[in-house]
Amino acid sequence: MGNKLIGYGSYLPRKTVTNADFERVMDTSDQWIVERTGIRQRHFAAENETVADMALAAARAALKNTGLTVDDLDMVIVATTTPELDFPSVAVQVVGRLGATKNIPAFDVRGACTGYIYALHCGRAFFTSGMCERIMFIGAEKMSRFIDMNDRSTAVLFGDGAGALIFERSTSSYSGIIDTVVMSDGKSFDMLHGTADHKIVMNGPETYKKAVMLMPDAARYIMEHAGITADDVDWIVPHQANLRIIQSGAKRLGFPLEKILVTVDKHANTSGASGALALAYAFDNNIIKKGQLVLYPAFGSGLTWGATLIRV
Ligand code: UT7
Repeated sequence: MGNKLIGYGSYLPRKTVTNADFERVMDTSDQWIVERTGIRQRHFAAENETVADMALAAARAALKNTGLTVDDLDMVIVATTTPELDFPSVAVQVVGRLGATKNIPAFDVRGACTGYIYALHCGRAFFTSGMCERIMFIGAEKMSRFIDMNDRSTAVLFGDGAGALIFERSTSSYSGIIDTVVMSDGKSFDMLHGTADHKIVMNGPETYKKAVMLMPDAARYIMEHAGITADDVDWIVPHQANLRIIQSGAKRLGFPLEKILVTVDKHANTSGASGALALAYAFDNNIIKKGQLVLYPAFGSGLTWGATLIRV
């Protein structure tokens, strides 16, 4: 039992924060940020705008894109690591605010920057088992809530936003989410984590070293598992954390740079929202076309890492 992609949507907060805006408030420069990360701007949610608000906006856009209503879904999974409320889940809030008249399963997945792959991994199992007909996967993050303006090495890296994809059960096993792999290593907790008072703690260089190794590892694993090579993949849509990580990973895998989708310059690192946001951007701008094969590897706090292969 397979699945296919039937729609997408995204939401970016109105407020754009440029590197020049950071130059005004901390000892940094546009040159340093662009050279070391590739980031030129990011979006920050309004003070009173929540992760659930952004997830809802992306969900509405995805439903509009497919011509469906919430009652046509039979599951909603939200990847988020930055919800304002410990409970209920963002997914439950979104389903309620969409006005569902059915009672469907809705839950959040916490996998930091790998969260969206974890969500797709769960969803794939529900399709494979035949338990679900139509699932909406949302990635939504308000990373700005965790930014420590006294730490220039992390403050400039993150952004807010939400992306959503809807998949439907299909008889083809070679469309939609074809494969997923997810991993974790809790021993490396110290490398990158959030604190109880909402600060990001990261050893940048060590995290960098792990990212350039583990994302290609996951990508290689999933290509081998699917019996394909880099030549068969039309696009690689890596987690958007740092342009140097993206380019180094692509080089290790033998992908030409023309096959790499880059949105980190516009969105910065939106953690669990990054992949769905990047895909929505590529669909909106007719960059990735229907039927193409996309490889999406991710890496993040935990450590967690993984990859998915999607025929869009
Ligand atoms: O989402 C998944 C997880 N996150 C990541 O994948 C991020 C992985 N790490 C990275 O992307 C990079 O390590 C960073 C972009 C965070 C940092 O780049 P780097 O080349 O590893 O820089 P560094 O931490 O080694 O710092 C080099 C210098 C330091 O100054 P000194 O000690 O050489 O004088 C830093 O203090 O750059 C300085 N620096 C800055 N300078 C200007 C650090 N942040 C800034 C800044 N502006 N914002």
